[in-house]
Amino acid sequence: MGNTLVIKGLDGERKLEGSVRITGAKNVALKAIASTVLFRDSVKLENVPEIDDVFRMLELLREMGAEVSHTKSGSYIVSVPHNLNTDLPLEIAKRMRASIVLTGPVLARYGKVSFPHPGGCLIGSRPVDLFVEGFEKMGAKVSFKDNTYSVIAKSGLRGAEFFLKNQSVTVTETFMMAAVCAKGTTVIKNAAIEPEITDLAQFLNKCGAKIVGAGTSTITIRGGKLLTGKGKSYKTMPDRIDAGSFLILGALAARELHITNCNPVHLEAVIQALRSAGVDIKIKKAEIIVRAPAKILPVDIKTHEYPGFPTDLQAPMTVFLTQAQGESLVFETIFEGRLNYTEALAAMGAQITMMDPHRVLVRGKSELRGRKLKSPDLRAGLAFVIAAIVAKGESVIHNVDTTIDRGYEDVDKRLRAIGVSIERTESGEQTLAE
Ligand code: EPU
Repeated sequence: MGNTLVIKGLDGERKLEGSVRITGAKNVALKAIASTVLFRDSVKLENVPEIDDVFRMLELLREMGAEVSHTKSGSYIVSVPHNLNTDLPLEIAKRMRASIVLTGPVLARYGKVSFPHPGGCLIGSRPVDLFVEGFEKMGAKVSFKDNTYSVIAKSGLRGAEFFLKNQSVTVTETFMMAAVCAKGTTVIKNAAIEPEITDLAQFLNKCGAKIVGAGTSTITIRGGKLLTGKGKSYKTMPDRIDAGSFLILGALAARELHITNCNPVHLEAVIQALRSAGVDIKIKKAEIIVRAPAKILPVDIKTHEYPGFPTDLQAPMTVFLTQAQGESLVFETIFEGRLNYTEALAAMGAQITMMDPHRVLVRGKSELRGRKLKSPDLRAGLAFVIAAIVAKGESVIHNVDTTIDRGYEDVDKRLRAIGVSIERTESGEQTLAE
């Protein structure tokens, strides 16, 4: 049985209003949870989003022997023992790509780790070669058998210098964390510069790490000791993808929507694209106010590593562009499988032509019609929710628990509060993606 969302569309009306509170960021909360392995005592994590990926990551650590307590909504205390089991539980790790960030801290602290080839959203081939190369550079031996990698560093990890051929966020974070416990100095060049990495590094530094340059393309880490969480806590930064998704929804369908507890600085590329399309956006320190325009202008979008247009907001933005008057080109440069959902949008009435696996041409304005949808991944799932809200008639979105619920907290509740007609039901539909 899967969860289903039933949405009654607004048929293009701009009438959503009220405010939406942004949650803590999934893509740093998961890494902060992994970082607890680097601590000799317990760590307090706050503003953690209550989403399925977080539950799975905590479950992984629990199964490996960590103690996790949930003190109140969004607050957890994690304590990792001296004798943590170093095998990542296969079933959970296989289903969640982010589990791979645990490998760095576990290997660095305990000298070994085993993990399955990770799964996650079906958005491209998603190799792990950079992880394997990095472990080897730091002195570990890697073997692969029965879909499982075994990594051993008999005399511990030692600092190394890397140049990442791709600016991967999780590779950067994995080695930044591994380096905290490794002997000597590690230099990561062509590192990813996403704000989640900076946030994580600042927290680790507060607890004794020596990380310099996070947020730039060269990060230097002096390693060698475990951290302490005594008297400290980590407050998860706001989720820029959660905020950006509501911003795009507001740009399509809001009389006036206030997006609160967010960091507008992290969304410059999105705000700029929406403003070029004619959207009225006001920015305060931790709040964005958006009103949908009567007419949307076309804009071309090219996804890019931060601070460029985020790939995780490409699908919601494509939905937005179906309502623009004219032609827009969407160029997905990060993942080759991240435009497959456009077929379903076309079935709703959008005019979208696939130019090649990385580019689609969107012609608007199209009237979208509600229909039955199955989300291929987490971010496209939210894009389907937005499309359903804008459409005429009713849409039924399946696979919500294996896609949307992984990354967005209480999505139906928050949408209902701003005027969306949305209900959650259980259905017998088979799940498609994990
Ligand atoms: N790559 C390699 N070799 C590797 C690993 C990655 O070549 O060993 C390449 C990939 O092929 C891709 C690029 O590096 O071209 C980045 O891919 P990767 O899978 O490493 O992305 P990531 O850094 O793990 C994070 C987020 C993604 C987000 C991307 C881009 C997490 C857990 N995931 O992925 O988030 O799309 O950065 O910003 O932080 C999501 O939240 O839905 C999501 C997919």
